[in-house]
Amino acid sequence: MSGELIESIAPLRERVARARRNGQSIGFVPTMGALHAGHASLIDRARLDSGVVVVSIFVNPLQFDREDDLARYPRTLDADLRLCASHGADAVFAPTAAEMFAVPPQCTVEVGTIAAHLCGRFRPGHFRGVATVVMKLFGIVQADAAYFGEKDMQQLAIIRRLAVDLNVPITIVGVPTVREADGLAISSRNVRLNPTERGLAPALYRALRAGAAAIESGDHDVGRAKALAAAGLPDDPRLRLEYLEIVDPETVQPLERIEGPAAIAGALWVGATRLIDNVAVRAATGQ
Ligand code: PAF
Repeated sequence: MSGELIESIAPLRERVARARRNGQSIGFVPTMGALHAGHASLIDRARLDSGVVVVSIFVNPLQFDREDDLARYPRTLDADLRLCASHGADAVFAPTAAEMFAVPPQCTVEVGTIAAHLCGRFRPGHFRGVATVVMKLFGIVQADAAYFGEKDMQQLAIIRRLAVDLNVPITIVGVPTVREADGLAISSRNVRLNPTERGLAPALYRALRAGAAAIESGDHDVGRAKALAAAGLPDDPRLRLEYLEIVDPETVQPLERIEGPAAIAGALWVGATRLIDNVAVRAATGQ
């Protein structure tokens, strides 16, 4: 019964309760569908760790700050079910919006300054929407561990804090970003790129790597590393840099100097598609 589709909360809870009665642990991979190799790596990791793997597919309206983005978000349920089955997911929870939000919510999860920079600065309310739906999903699935991609570094940091601050008994596992051969981080949004845009898109990762290389070779100055990274972007009218920041990976606050672990993160518009990426970096010591 691999990849069994479950569309309502009650049968999903029954499926999870049955697994618990059998002494199996539950690994949970929350997604918005349009699954790709990055999601597959989350499922693979959950599969390694858990007795039963649950994948959720729900395009969460609360986390979209633009109607057109929500409307254009790719929906590919049949292909998603095939991917889940082929990677050994046991259950795919794909509720309707009415099932998830039978009435408009009165209670949401407010996220503090950890959402003030990077994507949170440019997408007001986005992380409130993410944290609220993730909290609901945690309450529905009641998993032992949940798996999130490191590509969405700020989201991962926020969910780690969500679990700590609200005492959710769950282990949050970050899984490394999966990249195309040219370095482009795999994302559901990549399918929107036309061939010219696709050729330009890896520029973001190359720019982040250039900044990271400066830090790794001993330059602790944030301004210089950021300037170096930004200078690596091609001068092309189809590219617009939304942000490029160097932050503490746990608090997601901008750093003034790089003394320990850091993340260099960027958002780049490529035509009408917004891509995000980040690179973890640690200052070279003894310089
Ligand atoms: O990363 C995503 O796909 C979404 O933000 C998540 C975590 C499934 C919440 O809707």
